[in-house]
Amino acid sequence: CRVRHYTFRVVTKNSTKLCSTKPIVTVNGQFPGPTLYAREDDNVLVRVVNHVKYNVTIHWHGIRQIRTGWSDGPAFITQCPIQPGQNYVYNFTITGQRGTLLWHAHILWLRATVHGALVILPKRGVPYPFPKPHKEVVVILAEWWKSDTEAVINEALKGGLAPNVSDAHTINGHSGPVANCSSQGGFTLPVESGKTYLLRIINAALNEELFFKIAGHQLTIVEVDATYVKPVKLDTIVIAPGQTTNALITADQNSGKYLVAASPFMDSPIAVDNLTATATLHYSGTLANAPTTLTIPPPQNATAVANKFITSLRSLNSNKYPARVPLTIDQKLLFTVGLGINPCPTCKAGNGSRAVASVNNVTFVMPTTALLQAHYFNISGVFTTDFPGNPPIVFNYTGSGPSNLQTTNGTKAYRLSYNSTVELVLQDTGIIAPENHPVHLHGFNFFAVGRGLGNYNPNTDPQNFNLVDPVERNTIGVPSGGWVAIRFRADNPGVWFMHCHLEVHTSWGLKMAFLVDNGIGPSQSILPPPSDLPQC
Ligand code: C2O
Repeated sequence: CRVRHYTFRVVTKNSTKLCSTKPIVTVNGQFPGPTLYAREDDNVLVRVVNHVKYNVTIHWHGIRQIRTGWSDGPAFITQCPIQPGQNYVYNFTITGQRGTLLWHAHILWLRATVHGALVILPKRGVPYPFPKPHKEVVVILAEWWKSDTEAVINEALKGGLAPNVSDAHTINGHSGPVANCSSQGGFTLPVESGKTYLLRIINAALNEELFFKIAGHQLTIVEVDATYVKPVKLDTIVIAPGQTTNALITADQNSGKYLVAASPFMDSPIAVDNLTATATLHYSGTLANAPTTLTIPPPQNATAVANKFITSLRSLNSNKYPARVPLTIDQKLLFTVGLGINPCPTCKAGNGSRAVASVNNVTFVMPTTALLQAHYFNISGVFTTDFPGNPPIVFNYTGSGPSNLQTTNGTKAYRLSYNSTVELVLQDTGIIAPENHPVHLHGFNFFAVGRGLGNYNPNTDPQNFNLVDPVERNTIGVPSGGWVAIRFRADNPGVWFMHCHLEVHTSWGLKMAFLVDNGIGPSQSILPPPSDLPQC
């Protein structure tokens, strides 16, 4: 293993897309940002230098950060922000993980343009558990607004309304041709006939779950969220913000150009947003002006296509990569996740009310001191540990009419004892929102042992849990009007954020934190804070 040094300069850069130019916040002037390469067991040091007018933090999404919560990144959860003109070195070791993840800003909506790939190669000499690809290509999906994204969310929060949807989706920074803007090219993926490529697909979009498909070619899924899965061949994948998917594609045609499409998935039949980003798979030797073989992206509400992908994923569960599913459970938790409406006399646009989101009827209020600092230094008054382990109001999904939407505000964490095993059922209240909630847990991977529609039934549903080879992830879609059950071992002391990775829902309060404690005091379990840790 070795030490990898990176410098991330957070700088403003003018960017032109959809025929209009705006300044965006970037890392090193790049959109998407630079790919961070490392190997399993490496120690990674990233110096983040803030040259912009905003407070900044960076999160290494999916990196477990064992005992190094100070480097996890969510603002006011594990650190105070890096203020303009300041810098901070994220210092972590990659233990027991290899695959594709992403890094992104974890404050306000800066993630819109501050994100990039995090590629962890296996230890030197350790092969992939699938045929070695000819080449590897990072494919980052994102969203683009013509207006300033900070303004978009700030206005929405002030007025009480939902923020504007994006103006385009992008594949590696390009939307592909769009109406009324001829200069807009698309990303090109060059291939040679007969060769196999590994696509490292990342959804870095703020608010959109996406379908991804390539005309005339099948995708063989071999990994999700940096965990190996049993290879499965499909023509369409679905990927939620925060999720990653590695897929092999064999260039099994002789020549030609083939359309690559990324389009939104929402259960709703209401067309909120039907923008498709396109790129081109280009066989070597094919003329630039040759016609492109097109593909029809699934309709926005193609839930069956999404479910086919989701339910076909299984952990590889080989001798080398066993699925260590906790079989005995110390704590069973049930959390409702959902959206609601609260009164807001000052919300003009929302007519006196505002959208809110909650977990177990608690709308999380961001503290002004980081929770991890408060925990480590025993600062009282920052958060409480009375987050409810079950819905305070029994939830009964009927599929019609809003109910159970009352929320209370609080900065509450749920305490887990160190090394205990946890089963958490996430129940969507799915009445208002047509989307899945892609819930992301920091600090852990978990096994998705069960999934269903309607109300979770604690008496009958566990009989169908997969405890042998369930997929292991860090971000899971809680189906609209349904539930998922996840299991993990709380083997990482610290404070760990859990939230919906649709950024608008995080802004509305669909977030909470776990406090994992060994009972002998945090200073004996978490490493001490680095000397350059930003202060609030
Ligand atoms: Cu990818 Cu808390 O985030």
